[in-house]
Amino acid sequence: MKVFAINSSPRPEGHSKTALLLNRLVKGMREGGAQVYQAALREKKINFCEGCYTCWTKTPGVCKYNDDMSTELYPRWLECDLAVYATPLYNLTMTSHLKAFLERLLPMAEPFVLEKEGTFYHPRRTHYPGTVLLSVCGFPEMAQFDHLSDYFKRLFGISFRGEILRTGSEALPHIGPKLEEILGATERAGFELVTRNKIAVGTLATITQPLEEPELIGQLANIMWRTCIEEGLTPQEFWDKGIMPRPDSIETFLSIMKYGFNSDGAAEADAVLQFDFSGEHPGSCQIKVEGGTIDTASGAQYEPSIVIETPFEVWMDIITGKLDPQQAFMEQKCKATGDFELLLKMGDWFGR
Ligand SMILES: Cc1cc2nc3c(=O)[nH]c(=O)nc-3n(C[C@H](O)[C@H](O)[C@H](O)COP(=O)(O)O)c2cc1C
Repeated sequence: MKVFAINSSPRPEGHSKTALLLNRLVKGMREGGAQVYQAALREKKINFCEGCYTCWTKTPGVCKYNDDMSTELYPRWLECDLAVYATPLYNLTMTSHLKAFLERLLPMAEPFVLEKEGTFYHPRRTHYPGTVLLSVCGFPEMAQFDHLSDYFKRLFGISFRGEILRTGSEALPHIGPKLEEILGATERAGFELVTRNKIAVGTLATITQPLEEPELIGQLANIMWRTCIEEGLTPQEFWDKGIMPRPDSIETFLSIMKYGFNSDGAAEADAVLQFDFSGEHPGSCQIKVEGGTIDTASGAQYEPSIVIETPFEVWMDIITGKLDPQQAFMEQKCKATGDFELLLKMGDWFGR
């Protein structure tokens, strides 16, 4: 089987979450015996369709342009059995790179108008490869993909073979072991597509599994954006520098601790950390760490193993690396009562 995998993210490899999934899908397809040709549309010269219909009249089936679409992409599309269209979700559909590619498929149809059960269409001039849609999007809810999915099903009709859709894409590199579960299932989907012509229900369920509670994703995204704006960084620069998003409330502090929790590092832990914050956001909260699990609570529900008293902004300076914790304790900006050794273990528990 010949596969043509088309990546339409404008972002380069290493930054693109579309590429992250597509590369694993392609790996699975190759393991299944397929011969896969990959193209990144951002590197190609593709003129916009001009709507001249030269390809329907003067030179039937042939576009007048002599760009990468004509010399490289048409031949690949025509010879493949399966085409994978990979796009980040942009404004609820696809990138302009992919839209330009799809519009340039006009020579593959004939101009004549046919009708079936009240729907009008142009007949196909050539064989159309099977269609697979792969998309990623930033927001957490699957309904984000509704328009894109409908669009592909309508445009490619009987050629449509399946779709791989992943929400919360920007969080993927930061979700720990779940990432490999999702990428492993994406690889399996590639294998299944080329060996069985469809993706198993269980494989899709693993790919689309929820990452965190949607509210938590929203909160974390907001503190990341605020930190980017304050520090004058793009999100990529923010992640490259390993900066920690700065919580702006006790609630977001607890969210970030939950999100950064390293269950392996805390496998032996059994403690309740209590924070009594003064300053910008006064109030108490607790983090209960027990055998690789974490629970958080506002107020003081559990018997604490250690109580840390500090202004909220001082502790946020510490966790974002702006203030040395030893110095903060020496200068009495922080006070701790209880099991001091827990202070040293916290780096292992929240190291993610
Ligand atoms: C112009 C633009 C439009 C976007 N529109 C949406 C959208 O409608 N829904 C959504 O959930 N995410 C949206 N996003 C977020 C992207 O889908 C998300 O960041 C994705 O990971 C980008 O994929 P990439 O890393 O492969 O480029 C948009 C991003 C950009 C830059």
